[in-house]
Amino acid sequence: MLLVRKIQEARQTIAALRGSRGARVGFVPTMGALHDGHLSLVRAARAETDVVVVSVFVNPTQFGPNEDFDRYPRDLDGDAALCEQANVDVLFAPRTGEMYHSGYATYVLQERYTEPFEGELRTGHFHGVCTVCAKLFNIVRPTVAYFGQKDYQQSVVIRRMVRDLNFDIEIRVCPIVREPDGLAMSSRNRYLSPEERSQAPAIYRGLCRAKELFDSGERRAAALIQAVRSTLQEAPLATVDYVAVVNPESLREVRRIESEAVILVAARFGQTRLLDNIRLSAK
Ligand code: PAJ
Repeated sequence: MLLVRKIQEARQTIAALRGSRGARVGFVPTMGALHDGHLSLVRAARAETDVVVVSVFVNPTQFGPNEDFDRYPRDLDGDAALCEQANVDVLFAPRTGEMYHSGYATYVLQERYTEPFEGELRTGHFHGVCTVCAKLFNIVRPTVAYFGQKDYQQSVVIRRMVRDLNFDIEIRVCPIVREPDGLAMSSRNRYLSPEERSQAPAIYRGLCRAKELFDSGERRAAALIQAVRSTLQEAPLATVDYVAVVNPESLREVRRIESEAVILVAARFGQTRLLDNIRLSAK
């Protein structure tokens, strides 16, 4: 595996591996502190493409001024070891100044899909996500880029950006990887105190209860939301930011589910925000 820290070197290395016959490049963008959720994306890329590139970059433009940019977990040596084991070809880990040189002034601003939910609670978050993904896509020039369903709104926003800006990239969204007790894996789970950690699986329990109701015929969004909220009350340390039933493509809230929907949840345990979601399908 090659560890590359410079944009120019990343371009040259990946171009050489792509070769004249145009090997398929699979790309997994991350902010590091890799866990099995990230590695599931790497495994999908390994299975479906010829050259696998992972990026580790804690992107400052997607963090708000009072968020956890400074204390976000960083462990490049550990990440490199995991990537090596997972048979990654290139690990691209640029320094902040390499991605955002002094005088940097260009951002990708997406409307509509970035506005509700995470966009409303984290102003500017998706501008940072879109900007860094557009930059990384231009550097890596992947055939397929892999994202997790765990950050559902992000996956919709990225799909939309790729379509709107004509990136010639296929976006694959992979299932949520969970801890044995159901908590969705996240680099931020390590912030949880033991007590918070023991209550956090209530999020997924709530989603499962709502899905059971849906599978037994309930179609009213309000009833499903209530099921999630009342389960979350079993976790006294949780503060709910939102529970919403949305159309999977438009992210618009629905009152009644016709065929497909996604339930989105964000809850805080102390300072730590956790996201989760579940897909509902009547088919
Ligand atoms: P990060 O939080 O490191 O996540 C990188 C990718 O891993 C995202 O696509 C995310 O959805 C996926 N992922 C995280 N936890 C997962 C889980 N439990 N199961 C499956 N996939 C999971 O998301 C970002 O970084 C950044 O916003 C980024 C896209 C890299 C732009 O900076």
